[in-house]
Amino acid sequence: MGWTFGMTQATKTNIIMKIAIISSSIRTGRNSHRVALFFKNYIEENKLATAEILDLQMYQFPIFEERLKFQKNPSSLAIEFAEKIKAADGVIIVTPEYNGGYPASLKNVIDLLIGEWKRKPVAISTVSAGGFAGMNVITSLQFTLWKIQAWTVSAMFPVAKVSEAYNEQGIPSDKEGTEKRAKSFIDELLWCAEANKKMLG
Ligand SMILES: Cc1cc2nc3c(=O)[nH]c(=O)nc-3n(C[C@H](O)[C@H](O)[C@H](O)COP(=O)(O)O)c2cc1C
Repeated sequence: MGWTFGMTQATKTNIIMKIAIISSSIRTGRNSHRVALFFKNYIEENKLATAEILDLQMYQFPIFEERLKFQKNPSSLAIEFAEKIKAADGVIIVTPEYNGGYPASLKNVIDLLIGEWKRKPVAISTVSAGGFAGMNVITSLQFTLWKIQAWTVSAMFPVAKVSEAYNEQGIPSDKEGTEKRAKSFIDELLWCAEANKKMLG
């Protein structure tokens, strides 16, 4: 059976995929959140999936002390976060680059969970204020996600000069070019999500 480019089998059979978008920056005055807003808008406007932002600034998780499944009195927010990752068919991580790496807020929630990450399709969008689009983050974040047994998809979505590229509502200045890149990024994530769903039955 042939594939129509850009249209997965799930799209054709109206299976609604669930995408969780982790907005990793908890910094006051953050800008990478604009990219998370863009993905949510883009996915919903094009009816590609359902999309929910898991905003780590909103969750305000304490610094990691123990994995959720071993905590005696886990917070309801931590349980909610774990359930949302578990329920998602695919995850987009939007991460800034801080000093060549990804932020502590993101490592905090990767370490918090175990089984929820297993074989979870994850697509990474790196963000920077400067011209290098946060690309230094990629190898360290992919390695950590590989170690936790997530399934990092090969598509990338690097964003340079974020405050010029998106406004505060997540609307891109180059709408056509940005949406073209977003399409191939999200198509790849949805392909993996669909393949995963088939294997899980
Ligand atoms: C502590 C810190 C370290 C940073 N290090 C880098 C860096 O190594 N490379 C880079 O391109 N941008 C760096 N930046 C700038 C971020 O890319 C910029 O703040 C961008 O908007 C994404 O982060 P934000 O969502 O927190 O705003 C750094 C910013 C902070 C706050």
